[in-house]
Amino acid sequence: MSGRGAAPFGGAHDSEYRGDRAGRPPVGEWNAAAGTGGPELGHNLARGTFLAGAGTGGRGPLGSHEDAWAMTVYGILSDIHGNLEALSAVLAAIDERGVDRLVCLGDIVGYNANSNECVEIVRGRGIDSVAGNHDLISIGRLGFDRCANKAAFALRRTRKALSSESRAFLAALEPHRLYEGRWLAIHGGLDDVQQYVRTTRQAQENAVILQRRFPTVEACFYGHTHEPRIFEVREDEVRELPAAKVSWLQSGKLYFINSGSVDASRKREHKLAEFGVFDSNKLSVELHRVPYDHESVEEKSIRGGYRIGRVTELLYSLRRKISSMSK
Ligand SMILES: [Fe+2]
Repeated sequence: MSGRGAAPFGGAHDSEYRGDRAGRPPVGEWNAAAGTGGPELGHNLARGTFLAGAGTGGRGPLGSHEDAWAMTVYGILSDIHGNLEALSAVLAAIDERGVDRLVCLGDIVGYNANSNECVEIVRGRGIDSVAGNHDLISIGRLGFDRCANKAAFALRRTRKALSSESRAFLAALEPHRLYEGRWLAIHGGLDDVQQYVRTTRQAQENAVILQRRFPTVEACFYGHTHEPRIFEVREDEVRELPAAKVSWLQSGKLYFINSGSVDASRKREHKLAEFGVFDSNKLSVELHRVPYDHESVEEKSIRGGYRIGRVTELLYSLRRKISSMSK
């Protein structure tokens, strides 16, 4: 990781940046000024008390900052998976908070019953998106071999359900997007859209690739695992930070940031839609969760034939075993 320490976060805006950081709490800790203490964004937003002092005063609506080099507040969404209710809840919360730009880290479709509707919202609202593995599998650019049975079954259904407009939109998605020359958006790993980045070792492997291919990038936002995680890389040292509600990025370090998944259908611990907000001026990352109508999503998905039955799942497993034995 040599040389990174010489290029401070903030770059040309360093003086403004230093002033702004006075008195900040260390990375991974709650901002005492925000002080809501509540577990879900919706309530905090409703009271207007979330992250006091970090408001978007003076900022216009989404899309008003067209200058790609301007410091910006980004709403970060990932792994929507055709979950219209979760996407709507997340967008309502983000709209209430106010951001300059929305970025989707891929997997707009697959798993739930409203893939076309989710594509239409992403397209209609001009949400930047990169291609996720489900987006690529659903249009036949990738196969099912690395999918779990549940996902493969739902993706077969998704392939049949996708409109030609949705296919065309998904086919045009890029593998990555770069913002302000310093922030990168990808879906899985840098060289493998289906890689799960869950460990410090995997983050380190990706940091090496990132520095080779995108030497100016200081934070890489990724999805795919559906788990909020922040890895901090300095020289050869990587540590995972607590997935706090607010974290502050520090100069001289490289970050891999996963803000979780909009779709919570496959989560066991909760059924809340997750998203992030990244302020590239204050260098803060907020992790949020909002409730949505999970029962109705599940009901629609069962009715639409997106949920695998027990017998079919056994057949899928058997087929997988036979195919691995024949290799
Ligand atoms: Fe994915």
